[in-house]
Amino acid sequence: MRLLVTGGAGYIGSAVAAQLIEAGHEVTVLDDLSTGHADAVPPGASFVEGSITQAADILDRGFDGVLHFAARSLVGESVEKPGLYWENNLGGTLALLEAMRGAGVPRIVFSSTAATYGEPENTPILETDPTRPTNPYGASKLAVDTALTAFAGLHGLGAVSLRYFNVAGAYTAADGRVYGERHTVETHLIPNVLAVALGRRESVSVFGTDYPTPDGTCVRDYIHVADLARAHLLALESCAPGAHKIYNLGSGTGFSVQEVISVCREVTGHPIPTVVAERRAGDPAVLVASSERIQRELGWKAEHVDLRGIVTDAWAALPR
Ligand code: UFG
Repeated sequence: MRLLVTGGAGYIGSAVAAQLIEAGHEVTVLDDLSTGHADAVPPGASFVEGSITQAADILDRGFDGVLHFAARSLVGESVEKPGLYWENNLGGTLALLEAMRGAGVPRIVFSSTAATYGEPENTPILETDPTRPTNPYGASKLAVDTALTAFAGLHGLGAVSLRYFNVAGAYTAADGRVYGERHTVETHLIPNVLAVALGRRESVSVFGTDYPTPDGTCVRDYIHVADLARAHLLALESCAPGAHKIYNLGSGTGFSVQEVISVCREVTGHPIPTVVAERRAGDPAVLVASSERIQRELGWKAEHVDLRGIVTDAWAALPR
C-alpha cells in the first residue's frame, strides 16, 4: 500500500514506519520535527517536514491509507496549555481527516491512548469501559476517537484506534537500525530510570508510595514497541469501509514503579538511587489493559511479556 505516516520521526511512528517498509509498503513520513528527529525517519521512506494541517498538499488518490501518530503527548503540559492540545490533537486531526476525504484516502490507523479511560473502575480495562479522561491530553485523543466514529459512519472511512498503555523498549529493524525513545523532555519512567544508570541524573523520583497497590507505587502495563508496531500493520489490513474499531494494546500484566526500578538495576548493574516524591497529579493507581478484543479479532498478542527484555532493549538503544 501507499501510506502517509504522520509523526514518523517520533519514537513510535518511526518504528511503525520501519516495519511498514519491511513489509513492502511505500511510506511517506510527514513530521514537523517539533519533538521528532529527522534521523529517526527510516531509510526508504520519503520525508516531508511539515504540519498535519498541510496534509492536503501531500495526499492524492494514489494513497491507500494514513497512520496518524503526530500529536502533543505530555499529560502535564496538556493541563498547563489545554489550547495547544485541542488545536494540535483535535484541530490538526480534523484537518487531516478533511484532507483524506478530499483525496479519497480510504483508511486510517490512529494512535489513541489509555488516557481516554481516566481513573478506571475495573482492572483489566476493556474497550467497553467508561471513558472519562482526567486531563486535556486524554480528552483530545478521545475527541478524535469520537470524530473517527462519525467520519466512518458518514463518509465510509475505515478506521482503527489503538489505545496504547505504557510503550517501552526499542525496535531493531532487519537492517540493524534501532528505533528507541529519545524525547528532549522525558517524562516516562523507564528512560528516566535508565538516565540515572547512565550517569545523566543523580536519582529517580518515585511519584507516590502510598497508592492502594501491593508496594504502594503505581502499577502500569508495559508494552514493547515492536509488539505495538506489529499491531498497526494488522490494524491497517483490517480497516473496513464505514467501520471504526477501537482496540486496547497492552501486555495484560502490571508492574509497579518499584518493580520497574528493580529490573532496571538488574539489567544495568547500577544501584539507581531513588527519592520518594509527591504523587503526580492525575496518575491512576493501576492501569492494566485487557487486549482480548484485538487478540480475538486480529490475532494479535504481545510477544515481549518479560519486563527484563523490554528494559534490556531500551537500555541497549540509549544514545551514549
Ligand atoms: N513515574 C515515576 N517517576 C518518574 C516518571 C514516572 O515515579 O520519573 C511513575 C509515574 O508516576 C507513573 C509511572 O511511573 O506511576 C509511569 O509513568 P510514565 O510517565 O512512564 O507513564 P504514564 O503511565 O503516566 O503515561 C502513559 C502514557 C501517556 C498516557 C498515560 C495514560 O505514556 O501517554 O499513560 O495515563 F497518557
